[in-house]
Amino acid sequence: MAIPRETVEQILQTARIEEVVGEFVTLKKRGSNLWGNCPFHNEKTPSFSVNPARNIFKCFGCGKAGDSAKFLMEHEHFSYPEALRYLAKKYNIKIEEKELTAEEIMQQSLREKMFNINEFADKFFIDKLWNTEEGKTIGLQYFRERGYLNPIIEKFHLGYSPAEWDAFTKHAKQNGYTDELLEQIGLSIKGNKGLYDRYHGRVMFPIHNLTGRVIGFGGRILQNDPEKKLAKYQNSPESEIYDKKQTLYGIYFAKNAIAKNDECILVEGYFDVLRMHQIGIENVVASSGTSLTMEQIRLVKRYTKNITMLYDGDSAGVHAALRGTDMILGEGMNVRIVVLPPEHDPDTFGKEFSVEYVTNYLKDNAKDFIRFKTELLLKDAENDPIKRGQVVRDIVETISVIPDSIFRITYVKECSRLLDMPEQTLTNELNKILRAKFKKSLGVEGEAVPETENTTTTQPKQEETLEEQLPAGYYQERELVKLLLMYGRETIVDERIDEEGKRLLEQVSVAQFIIDDLKNDGFLFTNAVNRKIFDLFDQALDEGRIPDDQFFVSHEDEAIAQLAADLLSSPYKLDQWEKHGIFVKREEDVLRATVLSTIYRYKDLIIEKRRKAVEEELKNANDSDDQLILLKRKKDLDDIRKQINKELGIVIAK
Ligand code: CTP
Ligand code: MN
Repeated sequence: MAIPRETVEQILQTARIEEVVGEFVTLKKRGSNLWGNCPFHNEKTPSFSVNPARNIFKCFGCGKAGDSAKFLMEHEHFSYPEALRYLAKKYNIKIEEKELTAEEIMQQSLREKMFNINEFADKFFIDKLWNTEEGKTIGLQYFRERGYLNPIIEKFHLGYSPAEWDAFTKHAKQNGYTDELLEQIGLSIKGNKGLYDRYHGRVMFPIHNLTGRVIGFGGRILQNDPEKKLAKYQNSPESEIYDKKQTLYGIYFAKNAIAKNDECILVEGYFDVLRMHQIGIENVVASSGTSLTMEQIRLVKRYTKNITMLYDGDSAGVHAALRGTDMILGEGMNVRIVVLPPEHDPDTFGKEFSVEYVTNYLKDNAKDFIRFKTELLLKDAENDPIKRGQVVRDIVETISVIPDSIFRITYVKECSRLLDMPEQTLTNELNKILRAKFKKSLGVEGEAVPETENTTTTQPKQEETLEEQLPAGYYQERELVKLLLMYGRETIVDERIDEEGKRLLEQVSVAQFIIDDLKNDGFLFTNAVNRKIFDLFDQALDEGRIPDDQFFVSHEDEAIAQLAADLLSSPYKLDQWEKHGIFVKREEDVLRATVLSTIYRYKDLIIEKRRKAVEEELKNANDSDDQLILLKRKKDLDDIRKQINKELGIVIAK
């Protein structure tokens, strides 16, 4: 059902951001904004701001920002229409739903009927489990033997389907459910002798959607009887309400814990989910034995960008872990893998060990996916050079799906070490793949790759895909702009040497620090938009102000507003440092180290470019005086580079 556009606008204009956020976050007024502790990340000092004038919120810690609808989508995990409906209700705005066609009405009522009968079946199976002799002695006993306790059996609405031919079907029909519906939803099957139950003598797992409604069932047999060749699990067929590729078992019970922990643990089976919940690890869902789909990944992405795959220790488990992961990386998410000891799956592992042991095991054994894959493939290839070549291509292929160039570069570095292979070789291979993908995305074979010099972020495809085509220092320049926009108003410690050679420490704003440093050394941004932002900061600082991000986001210059929005909407993770294997203690230290290292890397690249230009000139210089001057210049540049790298080394080592 669609909400008319005018109504959407009316809702968004009527909604007051401070009132919407105020229901979930305690806000205090400070200046023209309201401040509170950010609900999206852990913090003790408020960096979450609400700007009533602009009707937006923004967290200066984690970077989340947007309007009322966005807040609700983030905080309550609503879809966009759900957020709008919530707001409409809050502000008494009537939504004139678009009129439905006869077919839409039929569809809708069919879905309703399906939810309805599933709920009816759910109750039936639960009743049979707890209140019948057969259910208690066979079904409940089975859960007991596997070590499952009442709270978990109740929470997950586990049930039992009697071993009769048509126990449920008969009961449903007596209550007015039609044969047609029973068959459509898959609870019953039509045979020669009429309708009969899909599940006989099985323990039942209802499968819930995000809002907790039952969309299907899985039923497990209780004995393995090889003679009968029964499938261990019997599952509902797909229907209007059950789309397997969009479903993750346990998501309803796990979603809050996933958001809270900022991590989703992915397991294979129903019992793995149950076990983890029973020992108190609740951010767990199951893919139900199939490889992950794009839809399932997006479902998780609503709550977190971090997936940890927990798989059986056997080789099937390990290889299952390799499937689907490129898709997750392609969504810009982080994947880690934990492999259990060979004799275990998450269910038996959680049964045998304490929650502390399991938690620590997860912590100690979670391996970044690319490292995991590299090591695994390397082990397979051992000393076979041909196989090694395949491994390299395979790994680089995986790296190429990562959308964020900074992470790609980090992984190239890491893999160059793991594979004992020059970084440049990997980069070349990577660029080859990226270029091929880029061409393919244009739909033209053999088309020349367009120039990327001086493009703004409105062309992300080009700038994201072609590292080597970009002018020197391009990314570092962007990073500096991003730091200015995101952390310009924060302060860091500046070390200065005064006239008497004494070391002075003083607090300066990040903006002041970056602008002064670059200006003093004559490093002015080369990209036109970056340069404009640089100048705006420079000017404001002269007037004793530091412009905030909103100033840029709503700047009248389209290119500036666009770049600011782009940069601000991709949160800068200071903890990226961890990814580089560098650990820094306090947040201020991280910020300082990030600012310094970004400046140094930027300068280094610019100097290198200048040095190359001098070298070129040297080749063509015939006059010995000219040569001397150029040689001197080259030496100066070399010295500067050495100095920069020394300082960079110090920052990183700290
Ligand atoms: N599965 C299925 N149909 C099967 C086998 C498996 O749907 N015939 C799905 C189920 O969701 C199951 C998951 O794949 O939970 C993992 O399968 P498996 O590891 O074989 O089962 P477990 O969950 O470990 O169940 P159990 O511990 O009871 O053997
Ligand atoms: Mn199992």
